[in-house]
Amino acid sequence: MKQTVYLNGLFCPMEQASISPQDRGFLFGDGIYEVIPVFNRKLFKFDAHFDRLNNGLDAVSIRNPHTAEEWKSLLNQLIERHPWDNQFIYLQVSRGVQMIRDHMPADNLTPTVYAYTNPLKPVSDKIIQQGIKVVTLEDIRWLRCDVKAITLLPNVMMKIAAKNQGADDAILVGRDGLISEGTASNLFIVKQGELFTPPTSHKILPGITRLVIENIARQHNITIHDQELSQNDLEQADEIWLTSSTKDALPVCTLNDKPVGSGKPGPIWLKVKDYFETTKLAIIDK
Ligand code: PDD
Repeated sequence: MKQTVYLNGLFCPMEQASISPQDRGFLFGDGIYEVIPVFNRKLFKFDAHFDRLNNGLDAVSIRNPHTAEEWKSLLNQLIERHPWDNQFIYLQVSRGVQMIRDHMPADNLTPTVYAYTNPLKPVSDKIIQQGIKVVTLEDIRWLRCDVKAITLLPNVMMKIAAKNQGADDAILVGRDGLISEGTASNLFIVKQGELFTPPTSHKILPGITRLVIENIARQHNITIHDQELSQNDLEQADEIWLTSSTKDALPVCTLNDKPVGSGKPGPIWLKVKDYFETTKLAIIDK
């Protein structure tokens, strides 16, 4: 189907959207993005995504061109223009167009705003039954992983390296020997019925799905610890999950070619997956 996108104040067919090659997003990777899921045609956790967008833009000194209400209005128009009940919206704010090359941004650039939407597919039955396969890799990213910058080359390189090793994804190990997250997801482990996830810091993205799962755990009396995790903790885990806005929580059943726990998606994952579905349904009437 023909997709409509939003670019700098206008909606247009995706094939007709164009930006200057002098955009600092294109030349420097100088911008911030968000991915927001849409369930039953409603934005999920918009406020949390908006706050994280603001934090990222503040961190790199780009002004947010829109208020929360303006963002909501334009994203809802984008949703309305597409037939899918479940979608995921990609939005990006880059610093804008600068004609003369300079690492230092010129004053008063007008940020470039782009947003488009895709259908959000449910996780396949194969994954629900067998989980995914991951390898551990050195986390080669920068020291501000809390900023959702469009500069994703290390993530792309690590995803390719994982695929070359026959895995679906990678879990990243920092220079301090501690586990950070996935290439595009946060990490949880289960040990003896309790949940553990690395604490928020500059080493990980503060994921919105991570927040939702932490809240679900608290509501359902599953003990949860924000705690640094070692590679040994990972190897000893009964369950490992990777969480993101496009995948909810994915069970990892093979780690470095060895089974995780029973080698099948675990009981706590199954429970939390059901609670997650209920949380999504709760937004329908809002
Ligand atoms: N990525 N960590 C990283 C490095 C990520 O890129 C993402 C999400 C997450 C999970 O965040 P959230 O739960 O808010 O989606 C954690 C998105 C989906 C992407 O880049 O496409």
